[in-house]
Amino acid sequence: MAAVVQRGDFILGKSLKEFEAEFAQASGVNYGVGVASGTDAIALGLQACGIIEGDEVLVPANTFIATVIGVIQAGATPILVDCDRHTALIDLNLAAKAITPKTRAILPVHLYGQMVSPKALLDFAQAHNLIIFEDAAQAHLAQREGYMAGSVGMAAAFSFYPSKNLGAFGNGGMLITSDQEVAQRVQTLRNYGAPKKYYHTEVGKNSRLDSLQAAILQVKLPHLSQWNQLRNQAAQIYDQGLKSGRDNKVVPMTNLAQEGHVYHLYVVRINEASSMTREQVQDFLKEKGIQTGIHYPIPCHLQPAYKSLGYQLGDFPQAEMLCEQILSLPMYPGIKSEDIAWVVEQISLI
Ligand SMILES: Cc1ncc(COP(=O)(O)O)c(C=O)c1O
Repeated sequence: MAAVVQRGDFILGKSLKEFEAEFAQASGVNYGVGVASGTDAIALGLQACGIIEGDEVLVPANTFIATVIGVIQAGATPILVDCDRHTALIDLNLAAKAITPKTRAILPVHLYGQMVSPKALLDFAQAHNLIIFEDAAQAHLAQREGYMAGSVGMAAAFSFYPSKNLGAFGNGGMLITSDQEVAQRVQTLRNYGAPKKYYHTEVGKNSRLDSLQAAILQVKLPHLSQWNQLRNQAAQIYDQGLKSGRDNKVVPMTNLAQEGHVYHLYVVRINEASSMTREQVQDFLKEKGIQTGIHYPIPCHLQPAYKSLGYQLGDFPQAEMLCEQILSLPMYPGIKSEDIAWVVEQISLI
């Protein structure tokens, strides 16, 4: 940070350029373009991939709303798709049914830190002639089937929101791709649509990752693999503890990516067998000093702002069920095994 201040290159400076190259390399692609947020990485990234007004983009119904916002800001129409109840990831069989002649892309979300199967995605995209654009906001350096998050599709979006696995001291995001044209177009779009100073070839916006944030992220990046491993190990301890519980009132999300799951969140489902509601469980744990979260309580199609998309209650039963049942348990790199044991013990009492 001191070096950035010394140089005074706060916008599009040396630290940004270095971090872009380092994060792209770590993710197994050629180019990184730092932007102001993960939401902008989706919006500008989709535009750069050639998505235009009238195009339809397949999006999971259970994601953070920013995925949907990104599609709409790119001028396209989000077509929501239900998810698999065990992983909470987009259900590609249902995605196939949602395809129309206007469908141009699929936007899989590597939710909670687990990638959607790259092989299945590539087969799906090839069969239907679609672009894959990954929302990897929760999946920095996640892996599955030999692929890194962000390296499967044409391009991918990451968020450096402070609580993410790789978090800035504020907002930040990045578009990564191995396609030089896509990278160059996002470089232009993020900088007032100007490929060179005061010459505007696109109606862009001001959306750059600050050099100061890049400098901070540069310091953190070398630790990320180890932090991810610690999250994964903590999840294994949770999984085992919850499995050895007497019943299956509390069911962890299924991990199909093994060590490649980076557990941005550790999510369980308080299922129908429980005598307590999810909210009661949450209150019970809170009394014991255990903070939990819900990611996310309302599916995208039932959010008031998105009524015009034309969906209604019942359209996506798995996503709706998950919103009612899911609970995120404490998860961070370095959470102690005795703390996890304490959480599991309290859960066994519900
Ligand atoms: C799945 C997902 N997509 C997109 C975003 C948007 O990122 P940002 O908050 O940096 O705009 C987030 C995080 O906030 C997210 O979790």
